[in-house]
Amino acid sequence: HRLVVLVSGGGSNLAALLEAHTDPGYGARVVGVVSDRPGVAALDRAREAGVPTAVVALRDFPDRAAWDRGLTEAVAVFAPDTVVAAGFMKLVGAAFLDRFGGRTVNTHPALLPSFPGAHGVRDALAYGVKVSGCSVIVVDEGVDAGPIIAQEAVPVADDDDEQSLHERIKVVERRLLVDVVGRIARDGLRVEGRHVRLG
Ligand code: GRF
Repeated sequence: HRLVVLVSGGGSNLAALLEAHTDPGYGARVVGVVSDRPGVAALDRAREAGVPTAVVALRDFPDRAAWDRGLTEAVAVFAPDTVVAAGFMKLVGAAFLDRFGGRTVNTHPALLPSFPGAHGVRDALAYGVKVSGCSVIVVDEGVDAGPIIAQEAVPVADDDDEQSLHERIKVVERRLLVDVVGRIARDGLRVEGRHVRLG
């Protein structure tokens, strides 16, 4: 089962997938990593693991639709079965979803549908929730709005700041993402409306 991972930053979720895929029993292999930003640590992690990379930066295209087509082509080169957005900070568009809709998943550091968007951890803290967590979802045209595949809760501590809570969520998030992607590879992903079944 071929995986392409979309990244924008540190790549700790990517690193967890790269560790998992060394086990043949995992059933999935990262065959390509695509970033919308050059020079990010996630690209170094991919190169160190011997996985080919591509950078598709918005500023190299005349508009968003052209960027989206460029992203779609860059991903298609690797012929993935599943695309994993792991800390990918851009919304994909119509061209991408035409090609990879229903088989692209995203990880988000909050319990959706609460606190979607780029600042899920900060927004949850500002709201004053006592429990947050992480969600793995199917990507659709909305902002972190697609059908939910799996979630796990993480308690908020009284003295948490954005960084400490995010770090604690990320420990759980990595494990959940690796688990979900492995199950998709082994058993398949079925999306019926808002409902998702693994296997
Ligand atoms: C993750 O918590 C992801 O859900 C969020 O940003 C973080 C990315 O971390 N959107 P990394 O790049 O995988 O280290």
